[in-house]
Amino acid sequence: MAAGRRESFINDPNLDVMIDYETIQARVRELGAEITRDYANKKLHVIGVLKGACVFLSDLMRAIDLPVSFDFIGTSSYGASTKSSGEVRITKDLDISPCGRDVLLVEDIIDTGLTLNYLINMLRSRELGSLEIAALLDKPERHEIEVHARYIGFTIPNQFVVGYGLDVGELYRNLPFLAVPKNPDALARR
Ligand code: IMP
Ligand code: MG
Repeated sequence: MAAGRRESFINDPNLDVMIDYETIQARVRELGAEITRDYANKKLHVIGVLKGACVFLSDLMRAIDLPVSFDFIGTSSYGASTKSSGEVRITKDLDISPCGRDVLLVEDIIDTGLTLNYLINMLRSRELGSLEIAALLDKPERHEIEVHARYIGFTIPNQFVVGYGLDVGELYRNLPFLAVPKNPDALARR
């Protein structure tokens, strides 16, 4: 795969580019066109899952040629021991009532699927017009719960990735491409 734009900006020998900037942008434009067609006569309301989805969300929204309202919801898992139970803590609630709106929930990655499953169940009790999922990445080998996402950017193998919103130890979200760290633990400690 071709080198990502500004790959040398970080110039980190610890990172292998998985999906470069141009490839991400081209796919986001495709998804935006698809969403524009699908929501032509609807009240599209985008909800981004903080923090990982914020970079994808900001590009995706500008690729949608419709009036769009948006909101954020913040989540975090209850820690390693409870992660498999799917218990998710809401760290930032919605600002706008989603009732009656056609909600597109935007997430960075479907890993185990537990976060999205929790959010879907929570939103289903809110009398939405409709609910669909857009995820930048999907890691099918890791799924513990099957979540149907209507829009998926890329299906990737079971590798830990950083960049374009995804972090290790809160770093590397600002990489404009997606990369596989050779040693994620070393990156997290920096
Ligand atoms: P879940 O396991 O599907 O609930 O995903 C929970 C969250 O874990 C995601 O929203 C990401 O923030 C994070 N996550 C999962 N896989 C990766 C990865 O490969 N890199 C960085 N963050 C990840
Ligand atoms: Mg996340």
